[in-house]
Amino acid sequence: MFELLYTSVVPAGFSEQELVDLLEKSRSKNKQHGITGMLIYHNREIMQILEGNRGEVEALFQTIFEDDRHKSVDVFYQGEIEHRSFTDWSMAFKLLDDKLISAITSGYEGHDKNISPIHMIKNSPNRGMKTFIDLRDNF
Ligand SMILES: Cc1cc2nc3c(=O)[nH]c(=O)nc-3n(C[C@H](O)[C@H](O)[C@H](O)COP(=O)(O)O)c2cc1C
Repeated sequence: MFELLYTSVVPAGFSEQELVDLLEKSRSKNKQHGITGMLIYHNREIMQILEGNRGEVEALFQTIFEDDRHKSVDVFYQGEIEHRSFTDWSMAFKLLDDKLISAITSGYEGHDKNISPIHMIKNSPNRGMKTFIDLRDNF
């Protein structure tokens, strides 16, 4: 089992409907390929975790990497895992609003309001994973 976490940026004008369509298609394809995970969206920034068999995750990520709908695709963590964290989700989704952001960042000393929350989270891979788990369990 393998996990890969990355961030990217969608262009201005990328609509909510496009995101919904993308998620719908991703979920049915992920089911076929045994991929699970979560996608977080905030102000044009994406953060996604993909988990599954290593070959499947790497093949999917290659497709995602080449997708024109986003840019600055940047892997900030990948590695072997013993268990999935998102067993029941073909692709969970969270839109980060101000309330969620302050819940995630409260008490976090590294939090700088001038830095986007996704950027801040990815600066620390442990923090990135913790955010996904917090969002899975608490919101
Ligand atoms: C931000 C982002 C996240 C994506 N996540 C997934 C995903 O989890 N699963 C998936 O199958 N495709 C995902 N895609 C879409 C793929 O890049 C690609 O378009 C799709 O897998 C191609 O499917 P098709 O070959 O059946 O047309 C994502 C694309 C973007 C831009």
